Amino acid sequence: MHTVAVLGATGSIGGNTLDVIARHPQRFRATVLTAHRQVEALVALCVQHRPELAVIADPALEAELARRLAAAGVRCEVASGPAALTAAAAGNLCDTVVAAIVGAAGLESTLAAARSGKRLLLANKESIVMAGSLLLQAVAAGGGTLIPVDSEHNAIFQCLPGGRPDLDRSGVRRLILTASGGPFRGRSRAELAEITPEQACKHPNWVMGRKISVDSATLMNKGLEVIEAHHLFGAPAEAIEVVVHAQSLIHSMVEYADGSVLAQLGNPDMRTAIAHALAWPQRIESGVPSLDLTACAPLQFEPPDLATFRCLALAYQALRAGGDAPAVLNAANEVAVEAFLAGVLPFLSIADVVEAVLAELPPQVVVDIPTLLARDQEARGVARRVLRDAC
Ligand SMILES: NC(=O)c1ccc[n+]([C@@H]2O[C@H](COP(=O)([O-])OP(=O)(O)OC[C@H]3O[C@@H](n4cnc5c(N)ncnc54)[C@H](OP(=O)(O)O)[C@@H]3O)[C@@H](O)[C@H]2O)c1
Repeated sequence: MHTVAVLGATGSIGGNTLDVIARHPQRFRATVLTAHRQVEALVALCVQHRPELAVIADPALEAELARRLAAAGVRCEVASGPAALTAAAAGNLCDTVVAAIVGAAGLESTLAAARSGKRLLLANKESIVMAGSLLLQAVAAGGGTLIPVDSEHNAIFQCLPGGRPDLDRSGVRRLILTASGGPFRGRSRAELAEITPEQACKHPNWVMGRKISVDSATLMNKGLEVIEAHHLFGAPAEAIEVVVHAQSLIHSMVEYADGSVLAQLGNPDMRTAIAHALAWPQRIESGVPSLDLTACAPLQFEPPDLATFRCLALAYQALRAGGDAPAVLNAANEVAVEAFLAGVLPFLSIADVVEAVLAELPPQVVVDIPTLLARDQEARGVARRVLRDAC
């Protein structure tokens, strides 16, 4: 029986994870559930899954959470604040941690899980974009395992020899990340000038949280995934290619030196990647229906439009620049996306903010986590100033 901490339980990945867990009560138990501010949603999940511990990241909501859990007849420990999140990720109530908090807010708990040798199921791509090799070192030092949940990286993981990222990769020629292209695929810059948050959050194939939905619309999500793939699979930027595949049936591919291309296919439903990561190296039922190949339209591919969707080009630029440039890119993007979702920044200006912050903060060598966090704050400060000047 695996005991599982679902960090970000009230989110899209969190909900899908709990759906898979509930299908396998003999195999998994959700022992820790966490949320940021959605007390009511967290209580409902606690009623259903009966964890040992519920953590609310906002300390002001702890008393309300405790009161509501008691009223609902749930007897579990209650804690709050970022320190409680990291303690939960490292603590002995779980052997597996699903890192599904959105943004840099997930970094500390992801690191805590890595350091303490958990099976780390990584959805929170921002933490590996920011901390890259430091996170991988933490996994190695803790003696645990990292299994990618992001569907593209999970697909690559499945297509690599033996499905294991630590095996010899000298025969790998290219990693091919597929991108749906987002809701605005094929549109010109002029057509994107008036895009609203509601339009940006309406993804054609996936139902996701608002931040990743906007990232998908700008193609920054694919940029973050290129950086994530670089770290997870030790591939240089030149060996990571993005191809737009609007149907989202091929989740990514690996090309080998002999010309073989292995692809992982399935319906676009995150429960496949989550079930694979939860059960790895075994396979379990995920609730995802079979892919009906005879009913699919012919699979189509096209190159990404880097001139319109500049965020993808900026992510490649940050990866090539090295050092802490990806952390700066991530911080600037988080601030810009928040401003876009708040209705104060036009869609096309997200890339402008990121570009301006990257230009102002040339890359520095990554030394340790405190320095990285300070740099994250510095980049956010610059991004806010750029925003003030722009709006
Ligand atoms: N959704 C997908 O299909 C998908 C696919 C691949 C990768 N990912 C990655 O998985 C992560 C989660 O994405 P999502 O779509 O599930 O996001 P989401 O639906 O917005 O959920 C985010 C979760 O994180 C919690 N949270 C937000 N801010 C927090 C903070 N400051 N401290 C602690 N917890 C916080 C939220 O709590 P509240 O509900 O209380 O706000 C919620 O539980 C992201 O890194 C995303 O890039 C997602």
